[in-house]
Amino acid sequence: MAAVPRYSGKVVVVTGGARGIGAGIVRAFVFSLSLLAVDSGAQVVFCDKDEAGGRALEQELSGTVFVRCDVTQEGDLQTLISETLSRFGHLDCVVNNAGYHPPAQWPEETSAQDFRQLLELNLLGTYTLTKLALPHLRKCRGNIINISSLVGTIGQSQAVTYVATKGAVTAMTKALALDESRYGVRVNCISPGNIWTPLWEELAASTSDPSATILEGTLAQPLGRMGQPAEVGAAAVFLASEATFCTGLELLVTGGAELGYGRKSTRSSLLETPSLPP
Ligand SMILES: NC(=O)c1ccc[n+]([C@@H]2O[C@H](COP(=O)([O-])OP(=O)(O)OC[C@H]3O[C@@H](n4cnc5c(N)ncnc54)[C@H](O)[C@@H]3O)[C@@H](O)[C@H]2O)c1
Repeated sequence: MAAVPRYSGKVVVVTGGARGIGAGIVRAFVFSLSLLAVDSGAQVVFCDKDEAGGRALEQELSGTVFVRCDVTQEGDLQTLISETLSRFGHLDCVVNNAGYHPPAQWPEETSAQDFRQLLELNLLGTYTLTKLALPHLRKCRGNIINISSLVGTIGQSQAVTYVATKGAVTAMTKALALDESRYGVRVNCISPGNIWTPLWEELAASTSDPSATILEGTLAQPLGRMGQPAEVGAAAVFLASEATFCTGLELLVTGGAELGYGRKSTRSSLLETPSLPP
């Protein structure tokens, strides 16, 4: 029995779709069927600042449209929206995925200039595309999915600026969900934990012991592994197509990394022996 594509005929825009989680989301919408990977689900327009990577994926996934676009440039985002509308006539879903996590840095190693640049990418890129897309999403009661991060809620060591940008993405998702509810536009975010992507690999390579970093990242999950871009893609398709009563949701795709107590202090001995009050 042939399954019905879950998001068939819908038009989806994905940012940062050339590799990693973004590519996993592009694939998931194109093949929004788990069994029949030959059938087509949504019409996907994806952008990236990496032209070569984007063109390669566009060739691999026939029917997708790649638009070279830097999400920190409003003019590029305007082109992304107008290209989508001229090809498909409407817009049902925007996935704001493009983002960056700098290598580990203590607070004193950060700078206001670097923080501003990261905000431009991780927060304002999302905000600007959202503003440009909303008039079109309202017409068909579409939805927005922001790719935030678990650490935006629970924090992360040596990542003050990144955590701040992602905390803001999660907060903005909730505020926008309230305002857009009157137009029937749902706004949700996915907060991934450790997902094995080129970015994760590059960050590990920048540490003094990449293998140890990867082992630590892997064992942070009770499930004992990192997640895959396809698993974030599946969550995005669910939010877009089936989660019709969800708005303002932060969907954790983390393998349970946030659960339970773990060793958080760097001390090797007790500061003081615990004692009960008299
Ligand atoms: N990998 C993880 O463990 C993880 C965890 C939580 C959140 N995230 C978030 O998921 C998103 C994707 O991360 P990833 O690990 O797949 O990263 P990645 O670096 O592997 O892929 C990101 C893609 O975004 C593109 N991109 C970067 N800046 C851009 C810009 N200015 N304009 C257009 N495209 C741009 C890159 O070229 C790349 O193709 C990011 O927002 C990241 O913060 C990742």
